[in-house]
Amino acid sequence: MKTAVVVGGTSGLGRATVAELHRRGWAIVATGSTPDSAEAVRRQLGGEDGPPIRVVAAELRDPAAAAAAIEEALADLPPLDLWVQSAATMPPEADWAAMRDVAMEMVGANLGGTAWILAWAAERLEAQGRGRLVVVGSVAGDRGRKAAPLYGATKAGVHALADGLRHRLHGSGVSVTTVRPGWVATRMLPAEKHTSPLTLEPARAAWIVVEAALRGRDVVYLGWWWRVVGGILRLLPSSVHKRIAPP
Ligand SMILES: NC(=O)c1ccc[n+]([C@@H]2O[C@H](COP(=O)([O-])OP(=O)(O)OC[C@H]3O[C@@H](n4cnc5c(N)ncnc54)[C@H](OP(=O)(O)O)[C@@H]3O)[C@@H](O)[C@H]2O)c1
Repeated sequence: MKTAVVVGGTSGLGRATVAELHRRGWAIVATGSTPDSAEAVRRQLGGEDGPPIRVVAAELRDPAAAAAAIEEALADLPPLDLWVQSAATMPPEADWAAMRDVAMEMVGANLGGTAWILAWAAERLEAQGRGRLVVVGSVAGDRGRKAAPLYGATKAGVHALADGLRHRLHGSGVSVTTVRPGWVATRMLPAEKHTSPLTLEPARAAWIVVEAALRGRDVVYLGWWWRVVGGILRLLPSSVHKRIAPP
């Protein structure tokens, strides 16, 4: 049996990744932001047959406490093989006041806490000489857009962070996979987009995440068509982008 940590495993893509790994026989430590969300998932998943699933509260804006909670949950499980960093938050930032209100929280969780805990996980995997890191970014990080400039900035930061970790860990036995979701039908995606043909169901997205991690892929989009969208957005000159890019 192998062990995985899924940070942000109480909802959406992370939650579906927990289910996919459990189906494949992995022991799992999953985290949520609060004791309540962890307890709710613990109740739903507890008592099932199969390998252990432990769910702990781990607020990313207090990453040292989060790491301690994960460490404790890992104590008697088989060696850690896979770390999936899925947690993020996307509060509304439609106007300037809203942006100011959420700036510190969003950067603190999506980038600051994420960087801290990934450095902790990377050190641990590097010392073992093997393992896999998965870092979930977003197509929103491919190019800043007016609907969510801050969220996009945190995700662009996450992409650069994952690139740096991959470079640093090259040759160490630890792979780093950047996951760039487009639209996945979770609570983070507005309801009207859930039925779009461009949207993936969480279970399908989680399967792609796990396969990409096990194959040691560097970058994977959820789904492939977002690579084209992200590529076009990145290539657009600013003079064009500011006029015609979607919100
Ligand atoms: N869904 C999409 O269309 C989409 C598109 C592009 C990128 N993404 C990215 O995909 C990843 C997963 O998103 P999702 O759609 O699955 O979102 P989600 O359903 O809202 O799940 C987010 C997870 O992150 C945890 N979390 C949020 N803030 C946290 C904090 N401050 N500290 C610790 N944990 C925190 C949540 O815990 P609680 O359950 O306790 O709240 C939950 O487990 C994110 O990185 C997101 O940016 C999603």
